[in-house]
Amino acid sequence: MATPGQGRNDDRPAAPLRDQAHPAAGQSWSAQGYAHHAGFVSELGGPLVDLLDPRGDERILDLGCGDGALTARLAQSGAEVVGLEPDPSMAAAARARGLTVLERDAHDPFGEAAFDAVFSNAALHWMREPAQVLRNVQASLRPGGRFVAEQGGFGNVAAVVTALRGALAARGHPCPDPGPWDFPRPEAQSVRLEAAGFRVAEIALIPRPTPLPTGIAGWLETFAAPYLAAVPEAERPAIRADAEVLLTPLRDETGQWWADYVRLRFVAVKSD
Ligand code: BEZ
Repeated sequence: MATPGQGRNDDRPAAPLRDQAHPAAGQSWSAQGYAHHAGFVSELGGPLVDLLDPRGDERILDLGCGDGALTARLAQSGAEVVGLEPDPSMAAAARARGLTVLERDAHDPFGEAAFDAVFSNAALHWMREPAQVLRNVQASLRPGGRFVAEQGGFGNVAAVVTALRGALAARGHPCPDPGPWDFPRPEAQSVRLEAAGFRVAEIALIPRPTPLPTGIAGWLETFAAPYLAAVPEAERPAIRADAEVLLTPLRDETGQWWADYVRLRFVAVKSD
């Protein structure tokens, strides 16, 4: 785990980090666990990298770079790539790939006209204050710079969320309200992007049922912590097991589990 001042290749923010450095209450990350249960997240990022079309003379920020698997692919273009990642375990894994990582929360400023492009895959839906993050992205871009991103969109993991809500209610536990994840419609995200100073070049919802390498149990173990934050630890496995039973329709005839992913993909250009 990275500790302040020890072997870091980032530049520390002048402002203090937020008290809660993780993107959603109750969620923390293990780079090893993430690679095991959710390596598909970066593996499926190829089309987004193609959409970004990074060039060798560019400076690019990867917002929410996680363990850097996709960031490393951006760097293959020859571009100067910087990851932004608040979680120490993930940031350390990205640095172990030789990447430069700013270990900070995207809700705090991370640059002034410093990047030609900002890229983000599967991170924005964790942001508690999306408008603030979009303003920070806009400020970090050079004039005309582009923001190319994919996140969960409206309807994303709706079955999973419904099962978690049902499993919590059945055992008398409250459900976090609002939920921990932001899954906007294209119209709503366009309004936010324009308010932050972007012109939306393209934006679309893309249903993408996604096979889960370690089943729905692995997904719940990796990602469902925010729903279980108020539940005594000893009871959490039972709630995950109840949710898994409710989610049986997400298992196909071969036994393969699928997540009901819906991606929101967009390209926005800094407009002033
Ligand atoms: C997603 O990539 O869509 C996602 C991952 C974890 C929690 C919620 C959504």
